[in-house]
Amino acid sequence: MNASRRPIAIAILSVAALLAIGWQVHAEATRVTFPEISKLTHYTTVRRGNVTEHIMTTPAAIEAVKDGQPIPAGTHFVLVDYREGKVYRYFVMEKGEGWGADYDERRRTADWQFQWFWPDQTINTNENTARCQSCHQSQASNDYLFTGNRIPSFDGTPVE
Ligand code: HEC
Repeated sequence: MNASRRPIAIAILSVAALLAIGWQVHAEATRVTFPEISKLTHYTTVRRGNVTEHIMTTPAAIEAVKDGQPIPAGTHFVLVDYREGKVYRYFVMEKGEGWGADYDERRRTADWQFQWFWPDQTINTNENTARCQSCHQSQASNDYLFTGNRIPSFDGTPVE
């Protein structure tokens, strides 16, 4: 390469690198779909300051946990975050057959993937769902769920 053109080549490479990093941080499309909320069962409520969280999942997952069976592929868990009586955001986890293979071992949360949806069901593209995974990894022995252990005592009224 002609020496005088090298700085330009370096500049182009740097821009490409920045774009690559930007893509990772901002475009966190995962396989998670927005669930049909009305088909889910609200099994527990967590209150913290001005935030009220309704946590829900499918009737099939509730049955599986109560029976000591693995949570089936296709299951959604949703945390509906209410502030001042209105939905502020939805945190969603979904399990799919083989979905763990999308991530390297350090990031993986078995076959669960994560997503943050705004009330209009669009994705928060500023979130990197690796953060969700890294915190939920602490619950590996509970299938990556923080509140799954409340399901056995759920009898129709959300556990508080
Ligand atoms: C710093 C730790 C932390 C991070 C980061 C985090 N969570 Fe959680 N998550 C929790 C805790 C703790 C709970 C239990 C409810 C509570 O205490 O608020 C929870 C509960 C949930 C639940 C209900 C099922 C369960 O595990 O009980 C879903 C769904 C969920 N989180 C999704 C997400 C998504 C999506 C993200 C990223 C956008 C995320 N979480 C990031 C700690 C975390």
